[in-house]
Amino acid sequence: MQAILIGFMGSGKTTVGRILARSLATAHADLDDLIVQQAGRPITTIFAEQGEAYFRQLEHQTLLRALQATGVLSTGGGTPTIAMNAVSLKQSTVPVIWLTANDDTIIQRVQQDSGRPLVNQLDQTSLLALKRRRQALYADVADLTIATDQLTPAQIADQIQGWL
Ligand code: S3P
Repeated sequence: MQAILIGFMGSGKTTVGRILARSLATAHADLDDLIVQQAGRPITTIFAEQGEAYFRQLEHQTLLRALQATGVLSTGGGTPTIAMNAVSLKQSTVPVIWLTANDDTIIQRVQQDSGRPLVNQLDQTSLLALKRRRQALYADVADLTIATDQLTPAQIADQIQGWL
């Protein structure tokens, strides 16, 4: 991998990852999509039928495989918050970019999509509490942090490319 994007749900990891990969003329991989492909069912179904712990195992195995490939990787919002994933991310030499967004931006973005089990399960206060709890874990693995609120996805991708 040439770059790994981390951040809370709705921070723009997938959108920015696609644009960044295109400008770097490399492949883009989305960890959630890889998990869905591997499991043959949507994330909401994996959470509902096998539970979050099983999802996290699949996520870890998929992350290890993805780290061997080339391109830009957009992770899931919880990926770096699981200790074994944080270790793998820190051990890899790939730059890790943390996309941040304020609470209002996140709420506005995640409301439009029902494919996220944690958004479906948690009320707004709990979701934002989860976001706050995760901040230190994202910060711990990040090599670069970008506040995305005032930027378009293309501008964010440009900033990352300039930094890489
Ligand atoms: C999760 C975020 C999701 C997905 C799963 C769990 C999380 O990814 O991996 O629903 O724990 O924050 P996105 O950040 O791409 O929505």
